[in-house]
Amino acid sequence: MNVMLSTGKRIPVEMHKVRIVQQTRLVPIRRRLEAVTEAGYNTFLLRTKDVFLDMLTDSGTNAMSDNQLAAMMVSDDAYAGSESFYKLADAVKDVLGFSYTMPVHQGRAAEHLLAKVFVKPGDAVVMNYHFTTTKAHFELAGATVLELYTDEALNTQSTNPFRGNLDLRKFKEAIEKYGAARIQLVRMEATTNLIGGQPFSIKNLREVKALAAEHGIPLVFDGSLISENAYFIKEREPEYANWSIAEIVREMMSVVDIFYLSARKSASVRGGMIATNNKEYYDRLLAWLPVYEGFATYGGMSTKEIEAMAVGLREMTDVNVAGASPQLIEYFVGRLLENGIPVVTPPGGLACHLDAKRFVPHLPQSEYPAGALAAAIYLASGIRSMERGTISMDRDASGNEVYADLELARLAVPRRVYTMSHIEYAVDRLTWLYRHASLVKGLRFVEEPKVLRFFFGRLEAVDDWGAKLAGAFETELGPE
Ligand code: F0G
Repeated sequence: MNVMLSTGKRIPVEMHKVRIVQQTRLVPIRRRLEAVTEAGYNTFLLRTKDVFLDMLTDSGTNAMSDNQLAAMMVSDDAYAGSESFYKLADAVKDVLGFSYTMPVHQGRAAEHLLAKVFVKPGDAVVMNYHFTTTKAHFELAGATVLELYTDEALNTQSTNPFRGNLDLRKFKEAIEKYGAARIQLVRMEATTNLIGGQPFSIKNLREVKALAAEHGIPLVFDGSLISENAYFIKEREPEYANWSIAEIVREMMSVVDIFYLSARKSASVRGGMIATNNKEYYDRLLAWLPVYEGFATYGGMSTKEIEAMAVGLREMTDVNVAGASPQLIEYFVGRLLENGIPVVTPPGGLACHLDAKRFVPHLPQSEYPAGALAAAIYLASGIRSMERGTISMDRDASGNEVYADLELARLAVPRRVYTMSHIEYAVDRLTWLYRHASLVKGLRFVEEPKVLRFFFGRLEAVDDWGAKLAGAFETELGPE
């Protein structure tokens, strides 16, 4: 909850108390240099024993509640007909309003099934923005992914409250160009991960639905961060200021044909799900569920996680749960702005994003500025962030680089995991790094996988800049 102090300053105060802890440690700068070198300058390849604050992602890393942990103890480990599934189905009906629920092992499994069932080569799918796994699945199925974001979406210094909106004019043009029959679905991602966790408004969602419905195109909703998107609607769309998160969620769902999510985020577990009220869609998807995931009542998930997911879906509609990360991120972004650090605005839903094009402006996209910045952040702080830029794009069919629209280093703020002093530490080290940004040089691939190269690709530092940055750190700040 944001609380006004007597000094007039507003701070996010945690509406939970810490009752289980996990120790972390900050290894010295010399070890960090070894570790990042061993990891091929790819933060995905670091081991957590070398990481102080793990801000790689909020996926599967949120703190679970006491009620979620308790629910895991009573799970029903049946292969078929598990009572745990029926608790999930009840929660989905109550919170989201859907009658058909299909667990899958995580979000990309839902995308795999949707791509398999809905598209064939030559088709197109429309999105407010792509996510890495979404794009991979739809393209592997032969579809063209059309990202119809607004002109404001790529402005990293925006004050626009809804940078995740889909551009209606572009949607109309796409329908004219491709023909409605070739556009198999329109997907709205709440909140748009790769452009900085930016939400869309209910107004925009309704307009997208109206146009899609006119042309018989189903609306698919990626609700991985549904509660955060609902929180932003409450905060930023005046008409909904007095609505509860639960009401806003139901309002959004009233226009959705197929819902899916990575339950690793808003629902604070490890799993995923597809839900719908359309029996025909359900049946078509269900046919493939046992082939790729598992039987209809577990879909590749542990029943323990299914129990916790049922609780997590209900808990995410509490405004203090939905707002926990957005408020800490807003504070984080505000503190960085005070120090003049190029950070993405407005603050988004899953992370604080640094704009690498402005942080290390001397690096061309061919040298992967966001990847270099993520490695430099680890060196300067022991904090693990994630590259969300050109490394996260794969080469095209002819082997050419596809430059990302944005070059971001993402510092995820998993829900209820980190505290204000962690954020202050991060702000300090990022400020130090910004002052030494000219020491950061580019990266080049040493080993480059063809698909989703950002996961396992290995790179090296041009001119051995990592050692130079570590040397400057040690001279000014000492061994840690
Ligand atoms: N959709 C969105 C919007 C996501 O953010 C993710 C995952 C997925 C789908 C895929 O779900 O990982 O459960 O298979 N985002 C993670 C992240 C990986 O770190 O942002 P998944």
